[in-house]
Amino acid sequence: MLRKRLVAGNWKMNLTPSEAKKFVSELKGALINKDAEVLVCVPDIDITAVSEAVSGSDIKVGAQNMYFEEKGAFTGETSPLMLKDAGVCYVVIGHSERRAYFHETDEIVNKKVLKAVEQGIVPIVCVGETLDQREQGITVDLVRLQTKIALKGLTEKQVAEIVVAYEPVWAIGTGKTATSEQAEEVCAAIRNVIGEVYGKETAEKTRILYGGSVNGKNAAELFAMENIDGGLVGGASLKLEFADIVNC
Ligand code: PGA
Repeated sequence: MLRKRLVAGNWKMNLTPSEAKKFVSELKGALINKDAEVLVCVPDIDITAVSEAVSGSDIKVGAQNMYFEEKGAFTGETSPLMLKDAGVCYVVIGHSERRAYFHETDEIVNKKVLKAVEQGIVPIVCVGETLDQREQGITVDLVRLQTKIALKGLTEKQVAEIVVAYEPVWAIGTGKTATSEQAEEVCAAIRNVIGEVYGKETAEKTRILYGGSVNGKNAAELFAMENIDGGLVGGASLKLEFADIVNC
């Protein structure tokens, strides 16, 4: 199995451009693991400053959202062409905060995924259940459906190159991490559904991350699971603890 590990920070709406620059230069010095791919998904306004600050390191720069059109009268939105030109190579799509606060549906997520792939930006597609849904016992059904809709229209080759992030909503920003068994169960179900639709060989190539209160203490155990290829890290990506997560 040759999936390269990916540790992606999701800064959310934190750090101004000058704060971002300072933080990234500290982070650069703290990273020692050369085997994992390291990514920071930053607010759009920070992209230029962070792209400059990461130069000379292996840290890549990603965005947290984008629109599914390339240009036009869409006040306040950011186009994939703009992201690409600014040095972005990954974009988080369908984060649960976008789904909950900005009404992103599975269909919108799918449009964004298709456009990102068309433009050569790798989407990190987020799926995951709420606590209510977990208690109802529908986690796997729901995540399978979210995954199927999000990837609809991609070819096998394209699916092999994207990233899916399993992020249980109840674990995000709460300090309540899924156990490594819970996370592995759902990540395996995601790989299975990809296998059913796009073939087993494709599914073996797609990287699947876990996200939700990942920190320097629990990362190693989570990342050791067979179907977990790294993490999407929120709170802990704003501290030098992010380097501990990468280094583990
Ligand atoms: P958290 O956020 O690590 O702060 O729980 C994860 C995410 O929202 O991607």
